[in-house]
Amino acid sequence: MSSVRGNPLRDPQDQRLPRVAGPCSMVLFGVTGDLSRRKVMPAIYDLCNRGLLPPGFGLVGVARRDWAEQDFAQIVHDAVREHARTPFNEATWSRLCEGLRLVPGDLADAATYAELARVLADLDQVRGTNGNHAFYLSIPPGMFPVVVEHLKSSRLAEPSGDSWRRVVIEKPFGHDLASAQHLNHVVQEVFPSGSVFRIDHYLGKETVQNLLAVRFANAMFEPLWNANFIDNVQITMAEDIGIGGRAGYYDGIGAARDVIQNHLLQLLALVAMEEPLSFDADDVREEKQKALRAVRLPRDLGKHAVRGQYATGWQGGVPVRGYLEEDGIPPSSRTETFAALRLDLDTRRWAGVPFYLRTGKRLGRRVTEVAVIFKRAPHLPFERTAVQELGNNALVFRIQPDEGMTLRFGAKVPGTSSIQVRDVSMDFQYGDSFVDSSPEAYERLILDVLLGDPPLFPRHEEVELGWRILDPVLDFWSAKGAPEPYVSGGWGPHGQYAMIERDGRTWRRP
Ligand code: BG6
Repeated sequence: MSSVRGNPLRDPQDQRLPRVAGPCSMVLFGVTGDLSRRKVMPAIYDLCNRGLLPPGFGLVGVARRDWAEQDFAQIVHDAVREHARTPFNEATWSRLCEGLRLVPGDLADAATYAELARVLADLDQVRGTNGNHAFYLSIPPGMFPVVVEHLKSSRLAEPSGDSWRRVVIEKPFGHDLASAQHLNHVVQEVFPSGSVFRIDHYLGKETVQNLLAVRFANAMFEPLWNANFIDNVQITMAEDIGIGGRAGYYDGIGAARDVIQNHLLQLLALVAMEEPLSFDADDVREEKQKALRAVRLPRDLGKHAVRGQYATGWQGGVPVRGYLEEDGIPPSSRTETFAALRLDLDTRRWAGVPFYLRTGKRLGRRVTEVAVIFKRAPHLPFERTAVQELGNNALVFRIQPDEGMTLRFGAKVPGTSSIQVRDVSMDFQYGDSFVDSSPEAYERLILDVLLGDPPLFPRHEEVELGWRILDPVLDFWSAKGAPEPYVSGGWGPHGQYAMIERDGRTWRRP
């Protein structure tokens, strides 16, 4: 418990034992990338600051040869200063700094891995990292097989004695079912399945984990969690940003591959799955997998799948470019930046309950939520006019940025002589109920990798099921013309409204 007492960031009333990683090093491939700078390196610092990394932790960056002259410590320092969640602390920083190493070199060159092996062996000696190494691949997917093969031939993937070797893979895991299967095959030739950690950072979010807590820790929700009471489920992930400097990654990928195949289908699985036998990795993943297997695409995709592409517009009072005018995007690009889709599940629990998924960039504001919309009461004993404002009851999980939950229901308007009923809402805000601010998703996930704790990482079957669901939609779209343009700063293409209204429903306005 000494690290609890010694750590000023921990609440002294907190009785939970901290999960502290044992001696190890992490090798970060793609250290020059945006994700490393904005998320991975700051999360490592935050973990260190919270006392959750081992004292001798090693962080090895692998970068292109022309980075040899760069000051790696300065790069990590800048990333931490700009993006870390916890305050900057000189003592934490100098502790982390002692374990920083840079290996410059070509990822396809065996000499890079020979040098990496030398650096890791040295860290084992001087920092006591015991041969425990995690290889984090934050690189373009085309490079995964190259790196994995080299980790094999250089024997870096092979643990000795009771040490461990793990590989962490960032999405996109393939661009369709066939490529994902191929990639799984390549990775599993080298690393046993228990050593493969596929990142879906949504699963690292506290508010996403809360979906299962709320469903299965309470008596009052689960009895209603089925087709008898639920009318539909709406999962919205709206972003206000455009593609920024990510043209090379995003073009040809698009919104459906970028976030529906992984994040939104994972949210769907957490809402739809049956209660797991336990919260062990196998039990949770088993149930998510069954839910994904039950997903059925509508027959007429023309009516139930919509895509759009942002055009010029205004965002936060500033004029912004359309997708086709972004740097690096070909003017004829048909990549969608908005996608909406209806899915159904062929199970007794969900028969006839559509799940509507939508996501887009350059929308009115950043908000991700899961809204469970209930059926209307079977009978309303009020004057017709008195209930005209009453909508369906809804339970909304506010994933971000305003983390919490909202329950919407009808209540009597005070002071009226006849019973007038109106929608009101009851709110749970994380900030009001919990002292600690939520850790970043990457803090949780990196710590879990170092601890070898897999429940929050999708199994390859889940990844493949995601592609199985999406491939027909992507094929359907690729045979069509350009996506529907929508104004930046609005709420996306008109087609999304026609799609849901055809079913006699409307989108909840987040
Ligand atoms: C990533 C996508 O997985 O998630 C990005 O590649 C997207 O395009 C990002 O912007 C959104 O993450 P968050 O945590 O900000 O919702």
